[in-house]
Amino acid sequence: MAPLGIGLIGTGYMGKCHALAWNAVKTVFGDVERPRLVHLAEANDDLAHARAVEFGFEKATADWRALVADPEVDVVSVTTPNQFHAEMAIAALEAGKHVWCEKPMAPAYADAERMLKAAKAANKVAILGYNYIQNPIIRHIKTLISEGAIGVVNHIRVEMDEDFMADPDTFFYWKSELSAGYGALDDFAVHPLSLLWYLFGHAEAVIADMAKPYADRPLKEGGRRPVENHDAANVLMRLGGGISAVLMANRAAWGRKGRIALQLYGSSGSITFDQERMNEFELYQADRRTTEQGFRKILAAPAHRPYDRFIPAPGHGLGFNDLKIIECRELIRAISGEPSSIVTFEDGLRIEKSVHAMAQSYHQRRWIEIA
Ligand SMILES: NC(=O)c1ccc[n+]([C@@H]2O[C@H](COP(=O)([O-])OP(=O)(O)OC[C@H]3O[C@@H](n4cnc5c(N)ncnc54)[C@H](O)[C@@H]3O)[C@@H](O)[C@H]2O)c1
Repeated sequence: MAPLGIGLIGTGYMGKCHALAWNAVKTVFGDVERPRLVHLAEANDDLAHARAVEFGFEKATADWRALVADPEVDVVSVTTPNQFHAEMAIAALEAGKHVWCEKPMAPAYADAERMLKAAKAANKVAILGYNYIQNPIIRHIKTLISEGAIGVVNHIRVEMDEDFMADPDTFFYWKSELSAGYGALDDFAVHPLSLLWYLFGHAEAVIADMAKPYADRPLKEGGRRPVENHDAANVLMRLGGGISAVLMANRAAWGRKGRIALQLYGSSGSITFDQERMNEFELYQADRRTTEQGFRKILAAPAHRPYDRFIPAPGHGLGFNDLKIIECRELIRAISGEPSSIVTFEDGLRIEKSVHAMAQSYHQRRWIEIA
């Protein structure tokens, strides 16, 4: 395959993460062509040019449409705030580009549907940034579950918490706007949903509650603005196979920095994992002698593929940005027509359907079945 020409829209938290991944994917995996970093777009010219130099892109623009129209660009990374995803991803697909769009697809379900429609019409690879499924530890947990290491899983608890909205004096910014989505549900809950989908399948029924810890926030320019969405959510869910699940998400949980804590309970054992300690998991197997029963902590090691592509030594650990490099490799695999482990727009839409069902359930105060 010829080297892929890359376009990157947005250079904030996720934009830099995508840029690191595009820069590193050849070095880490070896068996791919080194991508060509062609075109970068930001909100203004100065920032675009500065970031293009830092990230190693050839061209810079303040007009993302010029990037999308660039014939040298084959893949577009969309890393802008949620409300821009639909317009940018659809334009890129209509221009014949593959798309790697950050989660969630779009605040409005109809826009997410349009994104899937555009991907199908273009017949291009369109995936979402659900990097947590790429953790070699999560992949191994999937293998253990399929091998029956903890029997038949019947109950799951998952919590996703951070504290970047915990301070009531944090300035109002786009994440508190209703145009960006429901808040904890589409900003956070989608990640645990991607993990549950990867390990077990999509939610079949949900009932949710949402909470708004702070009614308003200060504005940088002075005054205050009402918070338009909910920073916390609690959800009961039913998955296939009769699995009951609890999902809790909170962007205002002091002390939590990157918690995605999974507890999986099966008929013959349990598994626990927390993204804050992403290089380990705990396994409890009930077939051990009672004198030695207890959770065993297992550290990430080269045998948990593709950890071996990064480091030959066990226990040294991968980081968040490495998950994006693995996701990037999977995207290239998909573009080459090889089997890959990615969240396509099709599965992403189903995740978003679950999120909208949760919001609907909160407003109607009842269980919602998801078709
Ligand atoms: N996968 C993950 O783990 C993860 C983590 C954080 C954020 N995200 C997602 O990534 C997306 C971006 O979040 P972020 O935290 O990086 O935001 P951010 O605010 O750090 O970065 C957004 C960038 O987009 C730029 N931008 C805005 N409008 C633009 C335009 N018209 N043209 C070009 N650039 C423009 C901004 O200037 C900014 O640099 C969101 O959808 C968010 O949900 C995903």
